[in-house]
Amino acid sequence: MSLKLGLIGHPIGHSLSPWIHTNFIDLAGLNGEYKLYEGDHTKLPEVIQHLKQMPIDGFNITVPYKQVIVDYLDEIDKDAEILGAVNTIVHQNGKWKGYSTDGEGYVRSLVEPYPNLLNKDTSVLLLGAGGAARGIYRAIVQKGVKKVDIANRSLDKAEALLSLKTGTTTTRIMSFQEAEQHLGEYDLIVQTTSVGMKPNVEDQIIQLHHLRKETVVSDIVYQPITTKLLQDAKNRGAIIHHGHAMLLYQAQLAFEIWTGKNLDVAHMVNELEQKLR
Ligand code: ATR
Repeated sequence: MSLKLGLIGHPIGHSLSPWIHTNFIDLAGLNGEYKLYEGDHTKLPEVIQHLKQMPIDGFNITVPYKQVIVDYLDEIDKDAEILGAVNTIVHQNGKWKGYSTDGEGYVRSLVEPYPNLLNKDTSVLLLGAGGAARGIYRAIVQKGVKKVDIANRSLDKAEALLSLKTGTTTTRIMSFQEAEQHLGEYDLIVQTTSVGMKPNVEDQIIQLHHLRKETVVSDIVYQPITTKLLQDAKNRGAIIHHGHAMLLYQAQLAFEIWTGKNLDVAHMVNELEQKLR
């Protein structure tokens, strides 16, 4: 049997997903392919129509279709429904079911190098409240972390994340200025905005004067690999966690959804970094 996988989005010409997933297919000892289906907004129905007629086993869906695809699904995973976004679709028995692997993929990328970092006593600060932050917030809360605060430029958008909360987690909403003052309280700081991304590599979302050396500073931006925020944190002796690992682990989870295989992909983190440099 030959596995047929792919990616829909725009623009996706530089996507590393084909490289990642063809490596996974080899690692799993399977045969198959991972193709790019470049679309534009006006043509989404045609692209979907085309895919529905193809013997495709599963595909990823990225910007700008992560929300609109929900309308074309037969089923949706509960978490993806709550998040209102899908990035992975499995085709089974003629039906399409959608999942979101970003948040859990992020958590996997963090837990792999730091297995004890996320527990009920961990204190987390999330910077940003966009689509990526929503998935990450929910996945961290689901790990049983009791304190997850959110700082964002627009406080309204941060408030909207509160509906994703489960269990007994407490969340304070704050400005970046307030976050800077409280920085010493956190064990983990997760940067999810686009600030610091190429070409604006000199931008840094918050100042780190009150950062403790024991804190892990994580940035999901992976272009550049080491953002100004991460470099600053490193210079202050803190622990840093790079964003490209999230790319790999959200793909690992997607591959698991498609094939049932949970691959050990840790050795690919450095290879992926080389590809991105
Ligand atoms: P994504 O899906 O990648 O998370 P998004 O949904 O557009 O993208 O979210 C972008 C996030 O980056 C938001 O938190 C946004 O802040 P607002 O909610 O206030 O818009 C944040 N962001 C983007 N540019 C920013 C900037 N220049 N300064 C501060 N925050 C910024």
